[in-house]
Amino acid sequence: MQSLTVSRIAGLSGSLRPPSDKSLTHRAYLFAALAEDQGVPSTVHNPLDGEDCASTLDCLVDLGFDAEHFPAGEMGERAFTMVHPRADWLSPDAPLDCGNSGTTMRLLVGLLAGRPGLEATLMGDESLSRRPMGRVVEPLRQMGAEIEGQTAPLRVSGRHLRAIDYASPVASAQVKSCVLLAGLRAEGTTWLREPSPSRDHTERLLEALGVEVQRRGDGAVGVDGGQTWGAFEYDVPADVSSAAFFLVAAAMMPGSDVRLESVGVNPTRTGVLEVLESAGVRLGLDAPREPMGEPVADLLVRGTDLLRPFQVGGDLVPRLIDEIPVLAVLATQCDGVSSFRDASELRVKETDRVETVAAGLRAMGATVTTHPDGMDVEGPIRLRGAEIDAAGDHRIGMAFAVAGLVAEGPTTIHNAQSIRTSYPAFETDLARLTVL
Ligand code: S3P
Repeated sequence: MQSLTVSRIAGLSGSLRPPSDKSLTHRAYLFAALAEDQGVPSTVHNPLDGEDCASTLDCLVDLGFDAEHFPAGEMGERAFTMVHPRADWLSPDAPLDCGNSGTTMRLLVGLLAGRPGLEATLMGDESLSRRPMGRVVEPLRQMGAEIEGQTAPLRVSGRHLRAIDYASPVASAQVKSCVLLAGLRAEGTTWLREPSPSRDHTERLLEALGVEVQRRGDGAVGVDGGQTWGAFEYDVPADVSSAAFFLVAAAMMPGSDVRLESVGVNPTRTGVLEVLESAGVRLGLDAPREPMGEPVADLLVRGTDLLRPFQVGGDLVPRLIDEIPVLAVLATQCDGVSSFRDASELRVKETDRVETVAAGLRAMGATVTTHPDGMDVEGPIRLRGAEIDAAGDHRIGMAFAVAGLVAEGPTTIHNAQSIRTSYPAFETDLARLTVL
């Protein structure tokens, strides 16, 4: 899928299980590798079949792990991945290729840094090589790590680490997870504080595996070094960040009625649901459950006639950071100016998402004002179909596919192949729900 063409449709209807959660799949793979070696593998059921998580698995194989992914079968068999733990990680001969995946690079460097004798280089694609790695390298160096580079490639020489009490300048689950995972191999208790709470999957999964995660009055989370766990089985829920494309598309098209099954609704990820509600969208939550400490439910959404503008800022931002591109599309259909602030992190994602979103929406006729930390989007307007450059950013590609569903005339999204990193079946799933 080099390019994707989308035309106006009447609405969306039906039910669908979006692809599995990317953040949880990465963590399940890494935690499976870290389990104590008692000759038993861990099994991750329903992992995300996308390229980002494949990068994590490939890196584990290059580090000596026996890991195998079994994709979903044509007869409806669910995908699964088996990872055999091992105590001695091997120094890979070639650089570890993290592809487009920031989570792979930032979590893995925290795991490698505390292994004396291990030598590894982490590299990534063009986009990942531009993204800031100083945010993980700095705290790891304070722990005694030896790492060369502030951006990829990063050269790591494993060392004995000591615990630190670190105040991260950014609200980032990748930084938090990196430091906590390094802390599990450090001497003492490692603490990390952040300006606003980021997604807490690492903490929840570790606790479900029996690790003691400590919490302090100032919001810091901490782990003692030396804690271990055994092999496990985990069934990954669907990704709310992928569900968001259908939630927004259905919301914008009156008459739409969609059920999204088994979606992770961890409160550190559900900012998008709060924004939809504040815009007046009718949402429902059905069959709530909580496997491995992670809340899961079916989400129900209906198309809405009169959408109200909304404001995104402060502590809400980390809770919907990946949904801002598609929420900016929603804003074009709301009655007034919607704003996104405190979101300068958008500028260091797979692309500078303030600029790529603004450029795409303007090409479709919208009025967008950008700011260093976000943007204002005016609505309501009838979008015009246009040629959009996704610039290799999966969420930009899917956000503009959603915009194309309500635009006059066809919208062609170029450089859309990166949709495979998080949602390989996006086009077929969209077709399944489409009402012409
Ligand atoms: C992720 C955290 C977020 C998010 C990314 C996945 C994770 O990044 O944007 O898609 O799995 O920890 P930051 O924590 O760096 O903001």
